[in-house]
Amino acid sequence: GYQEQQTLYQALELLTKFYHYMLCESNYGEKGRDYLKRRGFSQETIEKFQIGFAVDSWEAATNFLQKRGFSLPLLEKAGILSRRHFDDKFFDRFRNRIIFPIWDRRGKAVAFGGRILTNEKPKYINTPESNIFHKGNILYGYHLARSSIKQENQVVLLEGYVDVIKAHQAGITNAVASMGTSLTEEQAGLLTRNAETIIICYDSDQAGIDAAFRAAEMLKDRGRTVKIAKMPENLDPDDYISKLGGERFRNDVIGAGQTLMAFKMDYLRSGRNLYDEGDRMRYIEDVLHEIAGLKKAVERDHYLRQLADEFSISLDALKQQQYQMYRQLK
Ligand code: UTP
Ligand code: MN
Ligand code: MN
Ligand code: MN
Ligand code: MN
Repeated sequence: GYQEQQTLYQALELLTKFYHYMLCESNYGEKGRDYLKRRGFSQETIEKFQIGFAVDSWEAATNFLQKRGFSLPLLEKAGILSRRHFDDKFFDRFRNRIIFPIWDRRGKAVAFGGRILTNEKPKYINTPESNIFHKGNILYGYHLARSSIKQENQVVLLEGYVDVIKAHQAGITNAVASMGTSLTEEQAGLLTRNAETIIICYDSDQAGIDAAFRAAEMLKDRGRTVKIAKMPENLDPDDYISKLGGERFRNDVIGAGQTLMAFKMDYLRSGRNLYDEGDRMRYIEDVLHEIAGLKKAVERDHYLRQLADEFSISLDALKQQQYQMYRQLK
């Protein structure tokens, strides 16, 4: 109920401060501070995103919350603490991890993402869904990005916590993340609420490309301009910014975002030699297939003309070709 929610908000707020204090002020936080420094997080960024550290202990957070009079079963139910099966004792869910608080759209902490400091798995532990945390309703960083999104009438959609944080650190303050899952309708609603243009910049692996296509379709259905920014092989935005700097990320990646169709055409071109007649024909047929899948007649017409121009083929011939392709399929 309502009271339970209020208690959870309070617990999350206190715990955010506790983890942040442990990172920044305590001796135990040194490991976390070193890790973040190595990855290029500035102190200003650590403050802005209220990053914290869960020390290597089974009871630090549990004791902290118990001393402040919180009901431990309630916190366990909300996934903030865990409980041992054999003696029902409560213990810390997050141990020896960097803590990223996750906020709702008003800026209230509702969950945590905890990153391990090594290459072990799982990389992240997240608070499960609860009374106050509905993952699908949240875009990570939204409350910090909202005024920029409005001002620029544009939002940059990334995959991960660290991507958003590093983007903001580089001055791209209209960045938010879907937190690795496929975009929900609620998230799409948040993205389209204050921005005419959405630029998707997911990781460059196959999962990221597929997810970007799906997200782009959803956002286009809501009548927005959608662009996909291409990352070089095997980099994510954080890797890119660390390697090549924020300025290049802004200009060469975000600024070079392509429409979904242009992105797909690039993709279909790769590995083909368009001076070779066979390759060229296969490319044209693949593009015709993509064009046929477009929902708006105006868009179909636009890309057909573009294709006709590029290869000096008549519009009629392209339309006939398209017709034949689909007759063969039947
Ligand atoms: P990534 O695997 O791309 O992680 O997952 P990352 O954000 O680049 O993290 P670093 O740079 O290795 O530290 C993207 C997002 O998917 C979610 C998180 O939200 C993460 O930021 N994710 C990923 C999880 O929730 N759990 C996981 O085990 C992995
Ligand atoms: Mn601080
Ligand atoms: Mn990824
Ligand atoms: Mn990543
Ligand atoms: Mn990363």
